[in-house]
Amino acid sequence: MTGSDGRASRSSFDRQWADLGGIGRSEETGGYRRYALTGVDHTLREWFAGEAAARGLELTTDRMGNQWAWWGDPDITPGIVTGSHLDSVPDGGAYDGPLGVVSAFAALDQLRAEGFVPARPLGIVNFSDEEGARFGVACAGSRVITGAMTPERALGLQDGEGVTMAEALRSAGRDPHTIGSDPETLKRIGAFVELHVEQGRGLIDLGQPVAIGTDIWPHGRWRIDFPGEANHAGTTRLTDRHDAMIGLASTVLAARSAASMHGCVATVGKTLLVPGGVNAIPSAATAWLDGRGADENAVRRMVTEITTAAGEFGAEVGEESWTPTTRFDAGLIGRLQEVLPTAPLLGTGAGHDAGILATAGIPSAMLFVRNPTGISHSPAEHADRDDCLAGVEALTAVLAELLNCGEVAPTASHSGLGAHHQSSRGHFSARSGSQDPR
Ligand code: GLV
Ligand code: MN
Ligand code: MN
Repeated sequence: MTGSDGRASRSSFDRQWADLGGIGRSEETGGYRRYALTGVDHTLREWFAGEAAARGLELTTDRMGNQWAWWGDPDITPGIVTGSHLDSVPDGGAYDGPLGVVSAFAALDQLRAEGFVPARPLGIVNFSDEEGARFGVACAGSRVITGAMTPERALGLQDGEGVTMAEALRSAGRDPHTIGSDPETLKRIGAFVELHVEQGRGLIDLGQPVAIGTDIWPHGRWRIDFPGEANHAGTTRLTDRHDAMIGLASTVLAARSAASMHGCVATVGKTLLVPGGVNAIPSAATAWLDGRGADENAVRRMVTEITTAAGEFGAEVGEESWTPTTRFDAGLIGRLQEVLPTAPLLGTGAGHDAGILATAGIPSAMLFVRNPTGISHSPAEHADRDDCLAGVEALTAVLAELLNCGEVAPTASHSGLGAHHQSSRGHFSARSGSQDPR
């Protein structure tokens, strides 16, 4: 805690970033492999608990294992919550998720260094299994506590080795019977602001370091299973083959043209071939389709077209998740705009826990930090340190506004965001203790 000129948040940010950098990083690719309920996940959770303890924050874990670090008592007054997730996609970048958690602690450190006295609690969250990289359903942590996914469904999800989430929880020393929706935890959240690295070219094109999130495209995941018959690669005539891979390959091409036709995007980023031998015709093939777009009906039409194409090869299709269009809280966005008048508004095609909370009726919003590569879910994902610090500064200003009490000196070093810690004239009002959280 070094004063009110941003030094506290800078040194906090740099130290945390260095601490986290080596956890779950593949030497081979430089990407991160941080999957739910693994040893790496345990190390990340210990790191989060350590950061909370070092600041004297009260650590709670909800009914899905999401971690919450509280400054103040959210059972007296619902708090303002920030944070994100620490897990990754396979060979993911360093910033997707961790930037929001590290920035949250850095912002809290800055507020304290400035002598800020919050009128309501501040919470920092580490959501579990945001990417769904291991068990297939993204935002599992927030979906379960909000009731968007039943505990039965979550516990039955399997990883690539056939290990269920219930088994993985038991291996991690947790009791699967305790997981479920958690209204007690949700009641503590007056509003949620998630800071996240931008995952496309939005902020490059806008020439700005930080944007305010407006909405998330509707998106979903579908599992498509193609039947086939194993046989010899050398002795089976082409006309005698029942090759599961042909259906999969045709469907991938159908997905590309349907996406283009409907103005959406479609991705098959994961497949499974059985038996998986170079010289054996596949007896089964599975493709996981990720479909998104600005317009919900267009996405649905695209997916129907793709699944019809798959059906011609006898495939079975199952919807694994669907997230409708998310629009962040207009009043909350207005408050953020007052604090950050030069920050542009930006929507996204990426899914986030903030979207799940918003759909559950919790006032939510996001801040995006420029990614100069425009690449995400890849080791090439990046954010310059100056932009990360601009994000922390913006988040600090936003939190000061929403925590909304106590005199806070404006930060001396500015990133051109026009951040100022003054009380609000906006229409957003975070949920108070008397309101029903659902
Ligand atoms: C999460 O990052 C997603 O959009 O899939
Ligand atoms: Mn991601
Ligand atoms: Mn993310």
